[in-house]
Amino acid sequence: MCGIVGYIGSRDVSTTLIAGLRLLEYRGYDSAGIAVAATGGEISMRKRAGRLANLEGVVGELPAGSVAGIAHTRWATHGAPTDLNAHPHMDEHGDIAIIHNGIIENFAELQRELLAGGHTLSSDVDTEVIAHLVEDAYQGDIRAAVAAVLPRLRGQWALVVMHRKEPGRIIAARREAPLAVGIGDGEQFLASDPVAILEHTNKIVFLRDGDLADLQRGGVTFYDAAGELLTPTIETITWDGAAARKEGYDHFMRKEMDEQPRALSAAMMGRVSSNGIAIGELDAITPALAAARAIEIVACGSAYYASLTAASLAERLLQLPVRVTVASEFRYDPPPLSSASLVIAVSQSGETADTLGAVRIAKSAGATVLAIVNAAGSSLTREADAVVLLQAGTEISVAATKSYTSQALVTMLVSLDLARRAGKLSAAEVRDWSAELLTIPAMASAALDASDALPDIARKYFGAKGFTFVSRGAGLATALEGALKLKELAYIHAEGIAAGEMKHGPISLLGADHPVVAVVLQSPVLPKLVSNLMESRARSAPVIAVLSGVGEWASFATDAVVIPAARHEIAALIATIPLQRFAYEMALLAGADIDQPKNLAKSVTVE
Ligand code: F6R
Repeated sequence: MCGIVGYIGSRDVSTTLIAGLRLLEYRGYDSAGIAVAATGGEISMRKRAGRLANLEGVVGELPAGSVAGIAHTRWATHGAPTDLNAHPHMDEHGDIAIIHNGIIENFAELQRELLAGGHTLSSDVDTEVIAHLVEDAYQGDIRAAVAAVLPRLRGQWALVVMHRKEPGRIIAARREAPLAVGIGDGEQFLASDPVAILEHTNKIVFLRDGDLADLQRGGVTFYDAAGELLTPTIETITWDGAAARKEGYDHFMRKEMDEQPRALSAAMMGRVSSNGIAIGELDAITPALAAARAIEIVACGSAYYASLTAASLAERLLQLPVRVTVASEFRYDPPPLSSASLVIAVSQSGETADTLGAVRIAKSAGATVLAIVNAAGSSLTREADAVVLLQAGTEISVAATKSYTSQALVTMLVSLDLARRAGKLSAAEVRDWSAELLTIPAMASAALDASDALPDIARKYFGAKGFTFVSRGAGLATALEGALKLKELAYIHAEGIAAGEMKHGPISLLGADHPVVAVVLQSPVLPKLVSNLMESRARSAPVIAVLSGVGEWASFATDAVVIPAARHEIAALIATIPLQRFAYEMALLAGADIDQPKNLAKSVTVE
C-alpha cells in the first residue's frame, strides 16, 4: 500500500530518500512526506498532498548536511489525503518523527487517552497517536520507548521512528506489514519494499512479525518480539534495474503487457519440457499433496480471476473439490479445513493483507499452504509450506498484466502436475499438454499483434454508457478480468458476467450505447455462448469479440480480435491480452493516469 524509505549515512539524505520514494510511488500516491535529522538533532519535515512531484518541489528547502531521514508515499486509510495527514507525524514538541504503514485499530481509544492526558493531536491520522505514546514513554532511549509502546497497539504496522535527541538512529518495527533493512557499509537503509534500496545494497534483512531493528550508521541491531537480540538472516537479492525503467515506453503497463511472452516462458522454465511437466518446488510437500482431499484457492482481485482460469480444470483432472474464494471472505468465513486441505494462495506481491490473513487461518487449522507468488522474499513466501515463483519480473504498473497471465499459467501448471503426481494424467496426456503449453509464449506474441486492432475499436466505443463482459467456462475468468481492467484503468463502469445469466437481469442494460465484450473460445459450450450473443445483438448491442478458433461461428461479432486457436483453458489466458489493450486504449482516451489509477495502490497491505 504505502511506501516507506529510511536512510542513515553520508550520502545526501533527502536525495537518497526521494530517489527511493520514486521507485515506490506506485505503492501509494495520494500524498508524500519526508523528515530529516541534522547532526545537531533538529528534525525538519516537508509533506505534500498529491503526487510525489509536489513533495519534490519543496524538498530543496530542507537543510543540507542531515545524517538520517525517513520518507513516505501514502495511500490514505484514516484521514483525507491532505498535507497535514501525510506522514511523517510528530509529537507536539517536534521531538519524534514517525512513519507508519498499516492501521492502528485501537487508535480512537488511544486518542481519547492522549487527549485526556493533555496531548494536542493535530491530524486525523491513526499514526499520530504512536508519536505521542512514544513521547510519553521516552526516557533517553528511543528503542526502549518504541518497544514499550508496541504492546499497546492493535492492528498492523511497519513503523519507522526518529528522535531529535538521537539523530544517528532510526528504529524500525513490523507486524503484518512488510519492512526490510538494507545493510550497507557505513550506511544503512530501510524500505517497505527492497526495490527502493536495491541499487545501493543487495544485502537485505526482511523483518519478521514482532521484530524490531535499531539502525545506526555503523550497524544494525535486531531484536525479536520478546526483546531478545536476534541474529538476522541476510538475503542477497538480485536487482532487476531494467524492470524499474520504462525503457522507451510511455507507460509501465504497456511495457509489462509486451513482456508477457517472456514472462510466460520464464514461468515454464525448468517446469515444462517436451517430455512433460514437473514442478520441483512441490516435492517439499509430497505427503500433504497425496493426503489432500480438497483444494482451496485464495486470492484477491486480478489474482482471484487468474486462479479461476484453472480451477475447473484442476477439479476435473483431480476429481477433488476445488474452490476459489476471495481471501477477504475466506479469512472470516473459512470452509471446513483440516490437515487434508491444500490451500493455494495466489498473489503477485505476496504482501496482500487479506491473502496473508487467509493463509494464517488455513495454517492454524492444520492445512498445507502452497504459495504461487511473484515477489521473492515477500511475506507470503515466508509463511507458506511451499512456494512456486511466477518469475514474471517486477511489475510496476498498478494494474496487473504480466503477473495475471503468469498466475493463470502457473496455477494451471500446478493443477497439471498435481494430476500427474496423482496418476490421473497418462504420460501421453502430459506430453500433449506440454506440447501445447510450450506454444503459449508464441500465442501471446500473436495476441499482442492482434491487439493492434484495439485503438480503433476503443475510439469507436469510447463514450458508451457501460460495457458487459461475458463468456462461459474458462473464458468467464477472462471476462471478469477484462471488466476489472476497464473499470480500474479508464474509470468506465463494466461488469463481467456468465453469459447464461444475461437473460436473468443484466440484458436490460444492453443497447446500442451499451456494448457486450465477449470472450469466445473453442469449448463444448460455444454454441450456448453464441446463442447468448445473438440475443444481445437482437437488443441492438454491439458485440466486441475476442475469438479463438471459432471460425464460422463468428457472425455475431460487430468487431473481432482473432487470437490463436488453443484448448479453452489456454485460450482463456491468451484472450486476456487484447482485453488489457482495450482497457489501456480506453484509459488513454479518458486521459487517465494509466500506471497509477486513482484511489488504488499496487500492493494492498491493509484489509
Ligand atoms: C488489478 C490488481 C489487483 C491485484 C490484487 C491482488 O489489476 O492488480 O486486483 O490483483 O490487489 O494483489 P496481489 O496479486 O499482489 O495479491
